[in-house]
Amino acid sequence: MKIRVINGPNLNMLGIREPEIYGHETYADLEAFIYRGAADLGVEVDIFQSNHEGALVDCIQQCLGTADAIVINPAAYTHTSVAILDALKAVGLPAVEVHLSDVRSREDFRRVSYSSRACMAAIAGLGFEGYRRAIQQIIAL
Ligand code: DQA
Repeated sequence: MKIRVINGPNLNMLGIREPEIYGHETYADLEAFIYRGAADLGVEVDIFQSNHEGALVDCIQQCLGTADAIVINPAAYTHTSVAILDALKAVGLPAVEVHLSDVRSREDFRRVSYSSRACMAAIAGLGFEGYRRAIQQIIAL
């Protein structure tokens, strides 16, 4: 099984951005955590990150025929992007949405998620562990 992990804007700033919310570990640490978790669970992953909405849409489209499932943290685009929702619907692959922070306990605008409408589950507030849980949920499917 091959899973594509897609991370949205500003996640490349982990370790620097708002450490009181996102912690001190870096984006490289997150990638290492995901690769290690996937290896332990016996699946193949590749990881993509972009700060650009269109690049995220392109990446989702490219999953057709090259990935079996998607784990996505659209970051701020979660709360705004119909284009990412439409792309997830277009490819129709099993997808799980992940957020490092507990978006439900933050500002009101973070409670809205367009992308989760095309996802089988949304995991929030577990930090890096959320990505491992998302991969587990896909395997269980
Ligand atoms: C985030 C939550 C979003 O609201 C925010 O815009 C992010 C990160 C998270 O992982 O907690 O950039 O997706």
